Amino acid sequence: MSCEDCLSRRAFLAKSTLAVAGAAALAAGCGDGQIGGSGATGPLPTGLTVKVSTVPELATVGLLAFLPSDARVAVKRTGPTSFLALSTACTHEGTRLDIVNNAVSFECPNHGSRFDSNGTVTRQPNAAGSATNLPILTTQYNAATDILTIG
Ligand code: FES
Repeated sequence: MSCEDCLSRRAFLAKSTLAVAGAAALAAGCGDGQIGGSGATGPLPTGLTVKVSTVPELATVGLLAFLPSDARVAVKRTGPTSFLALSTACTHEGTRLDIVNNAVSFECPNHGSRFDSNGTVTRQPNAAGSATNLPILTTQYNAATDILTIG
């Protein structure tokens, strides 16, 4: 049987192998170990609020907590009525940071960058030193209502 449009057995196998390899690459998330985006990039949030007493970590000076309504932001109490808010997007490639070390520092699950609770880089992801300190967001605390406004 002769067919000019039919694939040879060898061509069919070659194309099938490429299709399987492509699907595997997609499943692996483009080779960086991430499936989909990091979800941590984009403009910094503004106008977020939190009732401080609802976040247990914020009862203690120095402990970090993700903002319950938006994990793109972490907050720590720095004094009786003062707070620091930081972006949780890794400054290397934007992966959302984890809060680690008993809530006193950040670590990136992607390439291992680390940041202290002030957002200062303490470990770079590579020899080029690609990570910078975390962006700080403005905060305003109303002690009468216990509401912290961020951004
Ligand atoms: S994205 Fe965080 S270390 Fe690379």
